[in-house]
Amino acid sequence: MKTAICPGSFDPVTMGHLDIIRRAARMFDHVVVAIMVNPEKKPSFTLEERISLLCRAAADIPNIEVVGFDGLLADYARQREAAAIVKGLRAVSDFEYEFQMALTNKKLNPELETMFLATSAENMFLSSSMVKQVAGFGGDISPFVPACVLKTIQDRLCGRA
Ligand code: PNS
Repeated sequence: MKTAICPGSFDPVTMGHLDIIRRAARMFDHVVVAIMVNPEKKPSFTLEERISLLCRAAADIPNIEVVGFDGLLADYARQREAAAIVKGLRAVSDFEYEFQMALTNKKLNPELETMFLATSAENMFLSSSMVKQVAGFGGDISPFVPACVLKTIQDRLCGRA
């Protein structure tokens, strides 16, 4: 059985994340969506909240599992015997950061491959930070996040919960 890991902060999950997870789930037998700690970011949602949002957003994808992990991705991938990390790549601006992470993970776990999926054109500009900024100023985020978690995300980002 080939397992892949889709790692990220998912703070919060967006349509772009969901698209990559769906596509990874078509290519691998099992996909572990790993909600990790990015020390460079201060999250708006707790780890438990992000897990819950992702479970709801991806409830229709049968071969995935959503987990939270506070540690090195390379170690977690070894623990899960994952063949690959799958990440979405939006624009050239993502490349340097993603490439640095891929090479670091390869050094830490030489068995592990990183695969990049080109983001779908409609999600090219989309990021969790952009969602937070639009919501923070009262804008409509409904095109950017899954409908079933829209209210929960909106309430938090608009300061209502
Ligand atoms: O969605 P993000 O914030 O771009 O995802 C980055 C993430 C969480 C995948 C990365 O920060 C990560 O892997 N964190 C876990 C700690 C780790 O392994 N750091 C070294 C990666 S080079």
